[in-house]
Amino acid sequence: MADVTDPAYRRLIAEHAAPSVMWTEFVSADGLYHTREKAGMKDEENPLMRDLQFGERERPIVAQLFSSKPEMMSYAAKLCVELGFDGIDINMGCPDRSIEKQGCGAAMIKDPENAKAIIRAARESGLPVSVKTRIGYNQESIDTWIPELLSEAPEALTVHLRTRKEMSAVPAHWEFMERVVALRDTHSPETLVLGNGDVKSLEEAKQKVKETGCDGVMLGRAIFGNPWLFTGRDFAEISPEERIQALRTLAEYFSELTPAKHFHILKKHFKAFIQGWPGAAELRSELMQTGSREELEAVLEQHGLV
Ligand SMILES: Cc1cc2nc3c(=O)[nH]c(=O)nc-3n(C[C@H](O)[C@H](O)[C@H](O)COP(=O)(O)O)c2cc1C
Repeated sequence: MADVTDPAYRRLIAEHAAPSVMWTEFVSADGLYHTREKAGMKDEENPLMRDLQFGERERPIVAQLFSSKPEMMSYAAKLCVELGFDGIDINMGCPDRSIEKQGCGAAMIKDPENAKAIIRAARESGLPVSVKTRIGYNQESIDTWIPELLSEAPEALTVHLRTRKEMSAVPAHWEFMERVVALRDTHSPETLVLGNGDVKSLEEAKQKVKETGCDGVMLGRAIFGNPWLFTGRDFAEISPEERIQALRTLAEYFSELTPAKHFHILKKHFKAFIQGWPGAAELRSELMQTGSREELEAVLEQHGLV
């Protein structure tokens, strides 16, 4: 998830317990080409390259890319081989206007021919290729859209069980997952299919696998404030001290791995980590006023928490 499961948070998650597979935030393939080849930017100074950092404990790790231009996808996917990624995932589900304007994300649902060309371009890297998409654009179109993707036999297909139009405003349509599985069985039996949407815990994910016959579940927002998600520990039993310590470690990794990123990006995590005990709301609102790691530490110290 963009600005959430960045290198810093992925490192923290992996130190607690890594999931079966991790994905990077989505990264623009065109942006990688233009900054490296055209502008000649050094990798150490390139924010997109920074987003593609990972540690060994995060493996298997898949780079999520987006582009509507096959030559750009081919370039970026080959770069991912050099960087040591275990696979490429192509974003065909993002509803953000700025992404769709480039013909990317969910806009790909409207252009299956190009979507397939993009998959083939990623394949040139020799890495396993997967796709993350939705069940349709304005309306559910599983029976036409999903077979288009399966005709390229991707190694995996993750389906966020909402249309583009639904954004995240309605409950995910898990009732459709069995249809996706059946299409996979017919069109590309080797492709792994993962469901996505509203799943909050490992138990719930296992239940979905059982009920629908899908091969796995992608967990998104459930990771907010909970790097313990894959440890199997009950979140309610994680003490405020542990949560605060985890947030401090996250801030440390954030400044180490992505020094050029603005501190306010890290604040996305404050609400999720600092909640659920008496005094948490007051502490959180003070933390929201901070503008650097040093200020964060100072506030925690004032509260006797360091
Ligand atoms: C802040 C935020 C950033 C996201 N960034 C990405 C992204 O970079 N790539 C992607 O495939 N999906 C992204 N998503 C969508 C999630 O992966 C997921 O499909 C959606 O949130 C529904 O699943 P969930 O209920 O498990 O979160 C993002 C979602 C959120 C809330």
